[in-house]
Amino acid sequence: MKITNICCIGAGYVGGPTMAVIAKKNPHIKVTIVDINAERIAAWNDEDVSKLPIYEPGLAEIVKETRGKNLFFSTEIDKAINASEMIFISVNTPTKTYGKGKGMAADLKYVELCARNIAEVAKSDKIVVEKSTLPVRTAQAIKSILDNTGNGVKYSILSNPEFLAEGTAIEDLLNPDRVLIGGESEDAIESLANVYGSWVSQDRILRTNVWSSELSKLTANAFLAQRISSINAISELCEKTEANVGEVARAIGMDSRIGSKFLNASIGFGGSCFQKDILNLVYIARSYGLNEVADYWEQVIILNDHQKRRFSDNLISTLYNTVSGKKIAMLGWAFKKDTNDTRESAAIYVADHLLSEQAHIAVYDPKVSEERTQLDLNYLNTRSEEENKDLVKTYSDPYEAAKDAHAIAIMTEWDEFKAFDWQKIYDGMKKPAFIFDGRNILDQKEMEAIGFEYSSIGK
Ligand code: UDX
Ligand code: ADP
Repeated sequence: MKITNICCIGAGYVGGPTMAVIAKKNPHIKVTIVDINAERIAAWNDEDVSKLPIYEPGLAEIVKETRGKNLFFSTEIDKAINASEMIFISVNTPTKTYGKGKGMAADLKYVELCARNIAEVAKSDKIVVEKSTLPVRTAQAIKSILDNTGNGVKYSILSNPEFLAEGTAIEDLLNPDRVLIGGESEDAIESLANVYGSWVSQDRILRTNVWSSELSKLTANAFLAQRISSINAISELCEKTEANVGEVARAIGMDSRIGSKFLNASIGFGGSCFQKDILNLVYIARSYGLNEVADYWEQVIILNDHQKRRFSDNLISTLYNTVSGKKIAMLGWAFKKDTNDTRESAAIYVADHLLSEQAHIAVYDPKVSEERTQLDLNYLNTRSEEENKDLVKTYSDPYEAAKDAHAIAIMTEWDEFKAFDWQKIYDGMKKPAFIFDGRNILDQKEMEAIGFEYSSIGK
């Protein structure tokens, strides 16, 4: 099928950047991103590209170049579905918060609603592409909905999981390690391969069956998360044995079988994918009675929770066993640098723990709004919204955030933190002035020379 019109349902962190790059690299294809969230679509259409709903280095430039030419953002979902030959489903698949599989399984209601929406309005044959991360065998459910409630229209379902990481999404999309396409229909697979073929060489485009493709995405995220939990487990051992986790990571990373990436010890991984996908993997394994497999992967999450808890416990015990009434400045709220995304950010859980110990928290993050910070804490339901508002203040100036603080906790590895005037920060703080570097980004000797009591992860 020759593709001239693409519709993407879901204008989020995956749909937005992916479609922007597809549009840029395929000027002959009209790409329309639709969403039920009118506010989000309005933000994508804002004249001022610095107001786009998501921040990704390089994204605003591409949107500026393509928007209104062959990239469109709209709330007219039915119209866009009808006009396209290929429809990407890029909606959220959060962990279920109710019923069977609560806290473990992926909630597929948004995906199902999309499938029903397509089935209801489509009048011509469509290729439907799963872009959201989905449990293995979801394609079967989508196909069944499309085939049973449709009007004689033929559908081909493809799985095309996205491997981009936030903060480097555009770079990852422009130069992917691989593009994975799972499907039954060779024609459909080749139609999608041609879209990517505009800028990705064919040897990097893998074709598999649908189930391998769906499971590969979960497996990739599980392996990546497992590496972080592995190095974080070793970081705790390092702290007891005078080994240095940075040195250990370098030593093992030079083994080409292990590789050097993804070995940074931290306060624990966050983000919308790792925890959700592993929980989902565990749930699926358990539902097939594979308890050893489930337990094995569950340990990655247990260790990650432990790492976050350990960080806040250490902070409290170092501050003479109490943070009650003390101001703690948290630098960074996003789950990693170069994004405004805070989903599952370790900062939220560390803050919540410190707040339960009656700390006052001052947050500085270059890209995260006060509103977002409050929403994240309120979502946990640990205390009232008024209390969160009283106890957590957000600052646009890091020096103000740190003023009169007893301790600084570095939660996100933003580059700008390294270039701060740390002497000035020290001068404004209560003494002794503590730094808890949850990202190992500062130089210990330099900080100690200024007078800080400095501690980091795994040293
Ligand atoms: C991840 C996968 O990398 C990506 O392929 C998939 O498509 C979506 O999930 P993302 O969550 O955007 O991407 O970011 P990633 O760079 O993987 O980081 C996830 C978390 O792990 C962050 O909190 C990060 O700070 C943390 N991390 C990463 C570490 O703590 N140490 C590391 O060495 C690497
Ligand atoms: P991701 O990180 O997977 O991209 P996001 O939450 O950032 O997830 O984006 C998903 C988007 O999908 C949201 O903007 C949401 O409003 C949209 N969405 C969810 N369900 C539907 C639906 N049935 N029709 C259209 N858009 C939807």
